Amino acid sequence: MTTRRVLVLDDEPDMVENCARILKRAGYQCLTSTDPHRALALVESERPELLLTDLKMPGIDGLEVLRRARDMDPALPVILITAFATIESAVAAIKDGAFDYLPKNFSVDQLRVAVERGLRQRDLQLENRNLKEQLQGALGFENLIGRSPAMTKIFELVRKAARSDANILVLGESGTGKELIARAIHANSPRATQPFVPVDCASLPEPLLESELFGHEKGAFTGAVKAKRGLIEVADRGTLFLDEIGEIPTTLQSKLLRVLQERQLRHVGGTAQIDVDVRVVSATNRDLREAVVKGQFREELYYRVNVIAIALPPLRERAGDLELLAHAFLKRYGGARVTGFDAAALQALDAYAWPGNVRELQNVIERACALADGDRITRNDLPDYLLHDSGMRVPATAAGMGGPSLPTAADMPLKDAKEKWMQVLEASYLRGLLERHAGNVSAAAKSAGIDRKTFHRLINKYQIRG
Ligand SMILES: Nc1ncnc2c1ncn2[C@@H]1O[C@H](COP(=O)(O)OP(=O)(O)OP(=O)(O)O)[C@@H](O)[C@H]1O
Ligand SMILES: [Mg+2]
Repeated sequence: MTTRRVLVLDDEPDMVENCARILKRAGYQCLTSTDPHRALALVESERPELLLTDLKMPGIDGLEVLRRARDMDPALPVILITAFATIESAVAAIKDGAFDYLPKNFSVDQLRVAVERGLRQRDLQLENRNLKEQLQGALGFENLIGRSPAMTKIFELVRKAARSDANILVLGESGTGKELIARAIHANSPRATQPFVPVDCASLPEPLLESELFGHEKGAFTGAVKAKRGLIEVADRGTLFLDEIGEIPTTLQSKLLRVLQERQLRHVGGTAQIDVDVRVVSATNRDLREAVVKGQFREELYYRVNVIAIALPPLRERAGDLELLAHAFLKRYGGARVTGFDAAALQALDAYAWPGNVRELQNVIERACALADGDRITRNDLPDYLLHDSGMRVPATAAGMGGPSLPTAADMPLKDAKEKWMQVLEASYLRGLLERHAGNVSAAAKSAGIDRKTFHRLINKYQIRG
């Protein structure tokens, strides 16, 4: 476990020093200040886990510090140190949310016990809050819809992988639910009561990403007016979710690797080594191994974040889940007003290839619910592109849209790739044709220039419904 941080504030330097000595000896990391304003700044930037403050100080008094500090961190236990004469106001302060108070002439043991109890109280409070969030269904498995064999296997793997402390890499096309899986891993892990901290590695330019991840000292760069903890530190004892990890610039990859190896980090512009204990879950829709081969991704980092890989199948490979998901989204967006699909609409949803996966399906259903006139979604409520190209994607767009599973060079030899390609094209050609002829096989076969029997054989092969 990492060292816990306690902040001591008193206008008398001797008092601060005395407390700090005792607490350090008891194994705590101690931040100190003799100025209430600076102490409040430290609460914000350093996120101490407990605040020990004098009650009577010139400027802002301890009660005001208490109020402001707890505005920033409602779970922060505050212990007031008070002269005998002010014990009454200290008792009143308890009503205002102070955790405890100590007389100025406290003994070493009194201080240690109070701090220990305060920290335990904080743990319980955070644990409670996180449990509540989980019960409200914000995190767990309830959100993950799927009954296909492919997804059942994934859920099993998530459950097992979550139990361990191993770093996990979630792979999958865009919109397949990578973030949802990352949250489920955290929620089912022993770290569930600690923070889950997502970082979008693709959205920030390098210097910003660096200070977001590692934190920085005041004055580390222009604009760094205050010191700030990084997200890795915020995730201490919890889970750090590195979304789009393939986008981390190589220089930061090395820095991140060092942190994961040494379990310590240094702020940008700082010298102190800070202990961190994080479990890393990453996600990418890129082929990271290929990036390693091309020298775009550090090999050691790849192995370190990829102890267990979870590869999410695209929606079109989850037999049966499409309807399940469509109905779940219908319930969410249609409410009591729109309650069903007509057969033609379902057929169109089924025929489409869903290059944008679950997210695309979700958007399509939300839109359809808004457009539906009656209580059922019809073909009219579906977007044109969905009806007309049946999800047929040529390679050029497939790359940009995370398209269907057309093989890439890394997967297989050209000969096999060509064959798979042909199948993808053939299937979507047939699907489109059948749809244009409203499911009439004879008419579709005729316009394809093949006989009816052959046409049947092909649509059976690709499991296309007539
Ligand atoms: N199995 C599922 N059951 C229910 N909803 C899902 C499922 N998978 C994904 N979703 C929903 O689809 C949307 C996209 O999921 P998510 O953001 O996790 O995907 P992603 O793989 O991270 O996408 P991207 O690569 O674009 O970041 C979310 O709104 C999510 O709630
Ligand atoms: Mg995502």
